[in-house]
Amino acid sequence: MRRLDRFLAEETSFSRSEIKKLIRAGRVSVNGSTDIRPETKTEPETDCVLLDGRRILPAGRICIMMNKPAGVVSATEDRRTRTVLDLVDEPFAAKLFPVGRLDKDTEGLLLLTNDGMLSHNLLSPGRHVSKTYFAVITGMPDEEIIQRFLEGIDIGEKKRTLPAQLRFLSVDGDFLEEYVKQGAGENTAGTMPPGIVSPDEMQEFCMKSIALADYARCGENECCSAVSVSEGKFHQIKRMFQACGRDVRFLKRIAMGKLLLDPALAPGSYRTLTDEEIKALERSVSG
Ligand code: URA
Repeated sequence: MRRLDRFLAEETSFSRSEIKKLIRAGRVSVNGSTDIRPETKTEPETDCVLLDGRRILPAGRICIMMNKPAGVVSATEDRRTRTVLDLVDEPFAAKLFPVGRLDKDTEGLLLLTNDGMLSHNLLSPGRHVSKTYFAVITGMPDEEIIQRFLEGIDIGEKKRTLPAQLRFLSVDGDFLEEYVKQGAGENTAGTMPPGIVSPDEMQEFCMKSIALADYARCGENECCSAVSVSEGKFHQIKRMFQACGRDVRFLKRIAMGKLLLDPALAPGSYRTLTDEEIKALERSVSG
């Protein structure tokens, strides 16, 4: 049993003193009754606690997939710019934080959770959880860039980037035939680097998670590509392409580990993960 005011303060963004006022104003009900007090004992799993008509349940682990739109920042608060959390219209929004960051102009899969351990595991450099992106870049497909990505690129840091998987895509989502065989995902020692997504897996991600509208962003003298990296350096994808003389015109994350962006989510919308998706994430973390 939990005190009503404490339970609501823990599960929503309201403070306990605000909750007291809401109870007094009749905006909270327990099992249909507003004749309640802040100290009323409730069993939130079985009692129906409503705040402004919305059921408040004990949260446990919350994990949301958002299709981040361009123009918002991946932070919990920002004085000048709207954040991804401003897009979450849920009583528990204040408990969430984004798992890692996407640039302000980057779109796509962003996880929001209240689970610090899950977030830590997904971002931990030692776990090599892959992140796969769809990128529209300047110039035409070039086999040499595939090799450079696979070997790791000097982006001005102490070490080169870890090997990354790059493929060029036709506008209907297939890998461009002439590049499929190139750099099939093995490095010169003939082994797959840790965390790197295989070309087959990457093709499946592309087929399932890239919307046709995204291919339509590809303009003249530009091409579509899919890139998978197993680390998360600042502006990593843009800097890797820049080091190869290319600019990224559009960037969208389509997968984190084995978790794919739901293509039915419009930019700015979100949903909680299904049990299957939670399992996919856990598999990604355990390697
Ligand atoms: N790499 C980038 O350059 N930007 C992002 O937002 C994510 C990866």
